Amino acid sequence: MPKAWIQERKRDYYYKKAKEEKYRSRAAYKLLQAVKKYKFISKGDVVVDLGAAPGGWIQAASRIIGKNGFVLGVDLKPIKPFLQDNIQTVIGDINEEETLQQILSILPEKADVVISDVSPNISGIWEVDHARQIDLAEQSMKIALKVLKPSGNFFVKVFQGDMFDDFVKKVKEHFRVVKIVKPKASRAKSSEMFVLGLFLKPSS
Ligand SMILES: C[S@@+](CC[C@H](N)C(=O)[O-])C[C@H]1O[C@@H](n2cnc3c(N)ncnc32)[C@H](O)[C@@H]1O
Repeated sequence: MPKAWIQERKRDYYYKKAKEEKYRSRAAYKLLQAVKKYKFISKGDVVVDLGAAPGGWIQAASRIIGKNGFVLGVDLKPIKPFLQDNIQTVIGDINEEETLQQILSILPEKADVVISDVSPNISGIWEVDHARQIDLAEQSMKIALKVLKPSGNFFVKVFQGDMFDDFVKKVKEHFRVVKIVKPKASRAKSSEMFVLGLFLKPSS
């Protein structure tokens, strides 16, 4: 890792806060801030978290849903286990049908919310990274359409770029209300945005 990047990270407000509050990633605050504003995860909810390693969003979701909810985290990489019985994780590629089957077999019931912070390995070539991210966001939505309850919610990371508007249109086909969200904890210079689809339509 470049030295300047490590120094910048150490000075970062949310990096320090995550360390103090024992979140596994500063990304946890992006989810917490978005939920605070739009209330798309509630106590007792069943949540599927795609691209969940190291587990910051899992922890944030778990604190919101409490003891009666359930969180399932999915990632290509193993996630260090949690002590709570109502948090489970699986290793899986969201592009594989087998991963969808695993999700469906583990969930106690269909999900209230699907959240996805999935990111490709960044190549540094902006068009390539944007296209890969859009692919992963579309794949996340396909999973959401199969695992969500009627009126369920979907929250997904997308990089800005020329395919962004088309993706938002697709989300609008399936969800009654769609919001574009840039939480304070998401660095201003980063092209990442989050698309929130609220209330899955019955036809989906
Ligand atoms: C930004 S990190 C997620 C951080 C997480 N939300 C947190 O708060 O700790 C993105 C994750 O997406 C995962 N990922 C990338 N492609 C994936 C795929 N095809 N299937 C599953 N996970 C994937 C990566 O392994 C990485 O852990």
